Amino acid sequence: MHKIDLGLVEMTMDVMKYAIDRISATDRKIGKPLKAEELKKLVGETITDKGIGGENAFNLWKQHLAAANVPVDHPRNLAFVPAAPTKAAIMFDLVTSASSIHGAYWMEGAGGIYCENEAMHWMVSLTGLPEGAFGVFTSGGTAANLSALVTAREHWRENESNRGKKGLMITSSGAHSSVKAMAKVIDVDVLLVESEEALQGGSLQQTISELSITERQRLFAIVATGGTTNAGIIDDLEGIAQVCEDENLWFHVDAAYGGGALVADSVRHLFNGIERANSITIDPHKWMFSPYDCGAVIYREPQLAKNAHSQQGSYLDIFKDEGAHGFNPADYQIQLTRRVRGLPLWFSLAMHGVDRYKKAVERGLELAQIAGKMIEAHPDVELVRAPSLSCVLYRRIGWEPEDYTEWTYENHRKGFALVTPTKYKTGDTYETVSRFCFINPDTTEKDIELILNSMH
Ligand SMILES: Cc1ncc(COP(=O)(O)O)c(C=O)c1O
Repeated sequence: MHKIDLGLVEMTMDVMKYAIDRISATDRKIGKPLKAEELKKLVGETITDKGIGGENAFNLWKQHLAAANVPVDHPRNLAFVPAAPTKAAIMFDLVTSASSIHGAYWMEGAGGIYCENEAMHWMVSLTGLPEGAFGVFTSGGTAANLSALVTAREHWRENESNRGKKGLMITSSGAHSSVKAMAKVIDVDVLLVESEEALQGGSLQQTISELSITERQRLFAIVATGGTTNAGIIDDLEGIAQVCEDENLWFHVDAAYGGGALVADSVRHLFNGIERANSITIDPHKWMFSPYDCGAVIYREPQLAKNAHSQQGSYLDIFKDEGAHGFNPADYQIQLTRRVRGLPLWFSLAMHGVDRYKKAVERGLELAQIAGKMIEAHPDVELVRAPSLSCVLYRRIGWEPEDYTEWTYENHRKGFALVTPTKYKTGDTYETVSRFCFINPDTTEKDIELILNSMH
């Protein structure tokens, strides 16, 4: 398995050819998921004592398994938060794998971590955080939110009177599910401010003032959202920052999806106040065109993250030695062994430059505006709210929730598009509506038109 022979070289060439074809493909198919039993029937036993052989296994992948995936970079995949990694980033993802770099400590991964840090300096500069702020790449937004919240909670507990208390944090109902899920992981309570629209500093202040004395003592963090997943809404970051400063609370901004738009001059002002955050989540695998998986967490005071996350063990002492000095990503987030997952972003940024990123993100924003206008001009559909960032919520006049579901499945079955329904609260009721999220700059106006026209 570890020796090089002719067979292995041939196999490597086959796999490389497949990767090249996939990287340069212009006509990707939207695959269909099959049940696990159906896939088993198609491919049979694949794990055996003697192995089925590389060629065989690869053929099964090509013939049956690859087609059971929906490529996130398909131009008519507008569901959830899709992705569109640059070709350069994908290429360097291959290099990252081939290079076998342990990305936890500078001692082993200096070259890779140096590149990650170059990309990170750029990301930090987008936030406007002061000198000294820095961050690390994580497996995604969930891990970034978790790393930030652990840091916040540990910092709060540095105060002796908070030890042993169960923490409480406040966020809005529009916050991503991972915020609530990670609160469970760290066993803190979450108070949700009900608001489908942006969380305002005023209503946050009101909520805090209504807490009991014990609840107020347990409150340690506020999580604002810099682009909600459902509707692209950016909370009132200035107002929330002010409340956090007045109340001495940790201010975390989850910009996992929206953070990519910090580079876009047309909307940068909407994020004003983000530079006052204690920590920020941004997912390069969303709107910074990195392949999965690549999230990031940035801290105003990285030392606080180090206090919370740095692992101790006699086998790890060597990394703290003078000779190994450098930036150790393991100290700033929840993971020890890690891939240098920021490397593909670095290569793509270095190759193309920041201006190309600006342009690609601006195109996503523009597509949302174009879709908004097309919806307004279309007799069968109407906007639920004005497009925000690259999210567009709209209704098909006269449709019931099951019509949206059936339409989604029908488009998926045909391999035409992946556009999924969501719910939006208008007044007191949740309405099922359709949603676009634009990331891929290759999505065209024709794609949008075809999708809208398919809602007969
Ligand atoms: C605002 C927000 N936060 C967090 C996440 C979770 O990120 P990940 O799926 O990379 O863990 C998402 C994912 O869509 C998101 O949109």
